[in-house]
Amino acid sequence: MLISGSGSNMVALAQSMTGDHPARPCVVIANNPDAKGLERAAAMGIPTACVDHRPFAGDRAAFEAALQQTLADHSPDILCLAGFMRILTEGFVTPWAGRMLNIHPSLLPKYKGLNTHARAIEAGDPEAGCTVHEVTAALDDGPILGQARVAIEPGDTPDTLAARILPMEHQLYPTVLRRYAAGNRSPVMLNG
Ligand code: GAR
Repeated sequence: MLISGSGSNMVALAQSMTGDHPARPCVVIANNPDAKGLERAAAMGIPTACVDHRPFAGDRAAFEAALQQTLADHSPDILCLAGFMRILTEGFVTPWAGRMLNIHPSLLPKYKGLNTHARAIEAGDPEAGCTVHEVTAALDDGPILGQARVAIEPGDTPDTLAARILPMEHQLYPTVLRRYAAGNRSPVMLNG
């Protein structure tokens, strides 16, 4: 799993991978040494690593090569982006084709990129949510594997909306991963 921040999706995924689940967490890697999720992963007994992107400023290919190398040390079969906030180029993504998932806090194809909840509120959308999709070279694109939707209520702010959507992310991502690891790519649709 790749993370950048608090790692709450990573925790939800890791907690789900028990019993008859076909996958197990093998490593959590952050691009940021201060990512809270690194401590949370270590506390769960999951190997952790950090590939800090900052020393590679201006050389994305070298950062991605270091990331691939660190991943190779742990031989994951499936790579989950869980709040990983770096753009990955085609050179990184191609070897992982069909094996890399991402969670994005919008109902894709709407609102790729950042500030998704603010953009949904500003647009007057009746609903918002999150999407798990396979990662392709295009940003926040790729086949949709699941979505969870919530209503946007009058008076919602980006923060209140995020607070309702995050628990849905924690349901959706483990549900999708379990099916994906078992070879099931048909989309999951949840309503909050
Ligand atoms: C989540 O809301 C996730 O959907 C979003 O970052 C947050 C990470 O939270 N991901 C993106 O915006 C990816 N472009 P977490 O670190 O607590 O899982």
